[in-house]
Amino acid sequence: MAKGHKDKVAVITGAAGGIGQAFAKRLAEDGVHIAVVDLGDGSETVKMVEGAGRTAIAIRCDVSSEESVAAMTKAVQAKFDHVDIVVNCAGIFPQKVFGDMTFADWRKVLSINLDGTFLVTKAFVPGMQARKWGRVVNLASSTLGSVVTGFAHYVASKGGIVGFTRAAATDLAPFGITVNAIAPGLTRSPGTLARAPRPVFKTMDEEFESVAQMQAIKRVEVPEDLVGAVSFLTSDDSAFITGQTLNVDGGRVRS
Ligand SMILES: NC(=O)c1ccc[n+]([C@@H]2O[C@H](COP(=O)([O-])OP(=O)(O)OC[C@H]3O[C@@H](n4cnc5c(N)ncnc54)[C@H](O)[C@@H]3O)[C@@H](O)[C@H]2O)c1
Repeated sequence: MAKGHKDKVAVITGAAGGIGQAFAKRLAEDGVHIAVVDLGDGSETVKMVEGAGRTAIAIRCDVSSEESVAAMTKAVQAKFDHVDIVVNCAGIFPQKVFGDMTFADWRKVLSINLDGTFLVTKAFVPGMQARKWGRVVNLASSTLGSVVTGFAHYVASKGGIVGFTRAAATDLAPFGITVNAIAPGLTRSPGTLARAPRPVFKTMDEEFESVAQMQAIKRVEVPEDLVGAVSFLTSDDSAFITGQTLNVDGGRVRS
């Protein structure tokens, strides 16, 4: 069990599947109770958390909507009397070459990936401030340090996440709250498996393998490769680390 995790409460967005679900499972194994927040059905994740002996609730929420986040916050507060940890994992990554990208495409990605991170963090920081302990973990991406096509909106949103992480860390440090980010590499998840490969590849498997060959550790990243980082960054052991973005990508991006 990670230091300081027992009976903490975490809100994890995007936790119905993929990386967010793996985070929920690991934090539950660490002793954390979980609010599973997602546009989709979080019941599978709830079962995993309960299987680890922790309490969980699934709440449907669109993190890009102020009203939806306000309703989700109320539902979390009705279930748990405090929230210690926020993991902002909800995100979308639709590819569009720049010439075809509309302002609506741009706004959609920015509103879910970046506005959503702001709104959910904002909702739970007051409680953390009152308790003088909090952990916020945001999801950046190795694409910020890579050559990828069709991702101007997505990479901009992840650049925003890194900036938000740094600045919020400064504002919230006096209250015992740390804010850090994890930057995954290309990870096999429902989201990446569902998308079309980039034009130079025939299948997603080809793209996964090609990216793996650019890593120091030459195998395809899976959500479980990221859970140790979220466990550490939400524990007492990381109390003196804030404003940082940790690359968890098999040693591909060096920054
Ligand atoms: N998989 C990768 O290769 C990779 C790489 C770098 C960063 N990331 C980041 O990790 C995070 C999770 O990625 P993933 O691969 O698990 O994705 P995924 O598509 O498998 O899962 C994302 C989850 O977010 C939810 N979601 C989407 N829009 C939402 C909204 N508006 N409100 C609430 N929930 C919403 C989806 O329903 C889904 O359950 C994202 O922020 C992504 O940008 C992923």
